[in-house]
Amino acid sequence: MTVKVTVTGAAGQIGYALLFRIASGQLLGAETPVSLSLLEITPALKAAEGTAMELDDCAFPLLQGIEITDDPNVAFDGASVALLVGARPRTAGMERGDLLSANGGIFGPQGRAINDHAADDVRVLVVGNPANTNALIARSHAPDVPADRFTAMTRLDHNRALSQLAAKLQVPVTEIKKLTIWGNHSPTMYPDLYHTEVGGKIAAEQVDGEWLRDTFIPTVAKRGAAIIEARGASSAASAANAAIDHVHTWVHGTPPGDWTSAAVVSDGSYGVPEGLISSFPVTSTGGHWEIVQGLAIDAFSRERIDLSVRELLDERDAVQALGLI
Ligand code: NAI
Repeated sequence: MTVKVTVTGAAGQIGYALLFRIASGQLLGAETPVSLSLLEITPALKAAEGTAMELDDCAFPLLQGIEITDDPNVAFDGASVALLVGARPRTAGMERGDLLSANGGIFGPQGRAINDHAADDVRVLVVGNPANTNALIARSHAPDVPADRFTAMTRLDHNRALSQLAAKLQVPVTEIKKLTIWGNHSPTMYPDLYHTEVGGKIAAEQVDGEWLRDTFIPTVAKRGAAIIEARGASSAASAANAAIDHVHTWVHGTPPGDWTSAAVVSDGSYGVPEGLISSFPVTSTGGHWEIVQGLAIDAFSRERIDLSVRELLDERDAVQALGLI
């Protein structure tokens, strides 16, 4: 059966890196035909049409159809996967409240449209920043959709951390298991190596504390800014790749003996207030994320997790005060 995948911000740079990979089968697998729905704001519809023409020109065997619209009710109608990429970026002089309001104006109606029109099995990944809080806004407008279907992306941070650690220890990324990103998708996120295994031994014990604290954590946290500095544009292909990884893992499951990172609705685990959409170590089986339980959290990690969760609480309070949730 054909699966409808909706991508918002489809004419943007992540959209351009994402759509072709979905259509080629990398999101849901080579056995699953897909139809794409491209949601854009009205002025960007023409650019989305251009991307759709290129998708046509790839003659992807799995691609059953493309729809382009500026109406969320149309875009999400029957959607089983919703990738919410389009967001209002922060521009010079913009206050945080303005940024949150502008995004509330996008993610509130999109959440409502998902609630009213999406397929029963809809799975939502929010990429557009501030991703965790945008996911919270969308979720609060979709009371009929199970809460655990709303997630935000920290897989790019996860992949960045994997890559930095692999380079440091001179091992292939496939040797690294059980890495965790905790908290918000922002520079406060915490990449935790205290449960990470490399060659069966704990990663934090294979690197010196100074490198972990003063090089590894800041490098992962500031990688987005470093990409902008080098490329003159923000991460796009790597962000699209992480979105593919997130949904692929969600649908197909985590390998035995490993986990990944995703921002999911907290059930209160690890002291993260219930209802916040925060990054955790997660496994997926049968299309459902589960937060890995029972990890011992040392004082160093506790402090960093708390800092990032505090930021999420502040964002939640701000959108609550603005009446956005
Ligand atoms: P972009 O500016 O190239 O594209 C964004 C697109 O969204 C534009 O085409 C715009 O017209 C569209 N858009 C704006 N409002 C919309 C609405 N209401 N409905 C549908 N489309 C709408 O931006 P880019 O580089 O593609 O990034 C997209 C978002 O992803 C940004 O918020 C960025 O900060 C975020 N991001 C998140 C990452 C993560 O790890 N979670 C990593 C990298 C980027």
